[in-house]
Amino acid sequence: MGGASARLAWAAEMAAPQPGERVLEVGCGHGVLLSLIAERLAGGSVLGLDRSPTMTAAALRRNREDVAAGRVAVQTAELAAADLPAEAFDLVVAVHVGAFWRSPAEDFGVVRRVLAPGGRFVLVDQPLTPGAADGRATRIAALAAPYRLAVTGVHTGDTPPRPSIAIGLCVAR
Ligand SMILES: C[S@@+](CC[C@H](N)C(=O)[O-])C[C@H]1O[C@@H](n2cnc3c(N)ncnc32)[C@H](O)[C@@H]1O
Repeated sequence: MGGASARLAWAAEMAAPQPGERVLEVGCGHGVLLSLIAERLAGGSVLGLDRSPTMTAAALRRNREDVAAGRVAVQTAELAAADLPAEAFDLVVAVHVGAFWRSPAEDFGVVRRVLAPGGRFVLVDQPLTPGAADGRATRIAALAAPYRLAVTGVHTGDTPPRPSIAIGLCVAR
């Protein structure tokens, strides 16, 4: 897996990007998941967003070949202030981004706006304390509902050193 953490390798599996999809990763950090997604995207593209210029510089370095090929782009911005067109992404993924786990979680509204019809949102976290994943799906369902996003599935992964949780969401009918 070339240095990808177990959490990020599992997140790529859970996100399951399909060939040709337009993907947004919120909080891309060093860009490891961007690389894993780009590997799976014949004909698609992935935009990594992070508010930290240090992180986006690292993500650009790591993915320079895919950036040159047009498969990966990177933007430095806070999600709420990012210049993102409406309904532009088939898949949004965020790994270990605290803003989605705390009230009022207004960033769900941005995700809702940029998701294309039929699009999905995959949220992954790797809680520090044992048992902290319990009740997370219920909490996320409550935080996301005001933005018309509904939980579609919950998975737990064996991702040493600690388990991870992935919550899938889609636009509610
Ligand atoms: C804990 S790190 C996780 C990085 C990577 N996803 C991982 O799992 O290794 C969270 C990252 O999200 C970024 N971030 C947090 N909130 C953000 C927001 N509202 N908009 C853009 N980036 C954000 C931070 O700058 C940081 O790089």
